[in-house]
Amino acid sequence: MTVVGAGNVGATCAQVLAQRDYADVVLVDIKENLPQGKALDIDQMGAVLGFEPNVVGSNGYEDSAGSSVVVITAGLPRSPGMTRDDLVTTNEKIVKSVTEQVVGVSPDAILIVVSNPLDAMCHVAKNVSKWPKERVFGMAGILDTARFSTFIAWETGASVKDVIAMVLGGHGDQMVPVVSATTVGGVPLTKLAAKDRIASMVERTRKGGGELVNLLGTSAWYAPGAAAAQMVDAICLDEKRVLPCTAYLEGEYGIDGLYMGVPVKLGAAGIEQIVELDLTDEEHGWLDESTAAVRDVVGVLTT
Ligand code: NAI
Ligand code: 2OP
Repeated sequence: MTVVGAGNVGATCAQVLAQRDYADVVLVDIKENLPQGKALDIDQMGAVLGFEPNVVGSNGYEDSAGSSVVVITAGLPRSPGMTRDDLVTTNEKIVKSVTEQVVGVSPDAILIVVSNPLDAMCHVAKNVSKWPKERVFGMAGILDTARFSTFIAWETGASVKDVIAMVLGGHGDQMVPVVSATTVGGVPLTKLAAKDRIASMVERTRKGGGELVNLLGTSAWYAPGAAAAQMVDAICLDEKRVLPCTAYLEGEYGIDGLYMGVPVKLGAAGIEQIVELDLTDEEHGWLDESTAAVRDVVGVLTT
């Protein structure tokens, strides 16, 4: 499998996958020596932690030919004061060029887009590759859900392992934490936390990316890299996991012709099913707002 972009998110994704010890990983970046150096460092980490990865770094795509899965993290990250959507024009060019090269060497791959603005960049990858929607999709919901789950675990004092949550919609401040589908050890969140506490966790989740940008001066990478790796696991190991991913919708949730975050079943064929949750009227309203925000950004694309 291949990870394009050997920056913070791409290298973290490669590292997590190397530690899983089941796949060869090719790390591609335009910066000379960067992917080679990070690949070598990860390989040497294997000697300390006891795994035997085969991570190769490259400035071209030859080594990545025939990849089954390609994760695209190439592009600019956010700086303080920027929204994800501010990146659209620059990252559109980068994702277009990367997709063209991936298609040339790995025509049967499954593409996982990570670059922002995520929902719009999925459209770029799909339009350029012309691949079926089952093989082109994005990572955002696992990260957004991880943030929501973390806050819920802290609030309730329960293990994060027992939190089942789901964040849908676009990867922007209008995303939709689905409180009605959230449980801790099978108990609805609404029975465990007061309304105002839930509202503040929802708000913190929606602004979760910005909170990290303000702390770090750039966007987050540990949770995003691990989230992308979880999607690779589900595909390469044919796990049939139900995970929130950014999928091309054609009528599901009443949305047509747009990439949005929804629960999907992820396996060897890529997106094998889109799962439709029952939403409350309030959640439907939030999803409408999120849909409008994503359509605005997609409208700026020229690809
Ligand atoms: P970074 O700046 O650390 O790494 C990006 C890498 O892309 C750089 O090493 C750069 O040389 C490389 N690159 C640029 N153009 C390229 C090209 N044409 N071909 C190959 N490589 C190229 O950025 P970071 O933090 O890794 O973020 C990467 C992207 O992921 C950003 O757009 C960021 O906004 C996005 N992101 C998305 C998340 C999500 O949930 N979908 C979460 C976190 C970040
Ligand atoms: C994040 O949510 C900025 O998309 C990036 O951390």
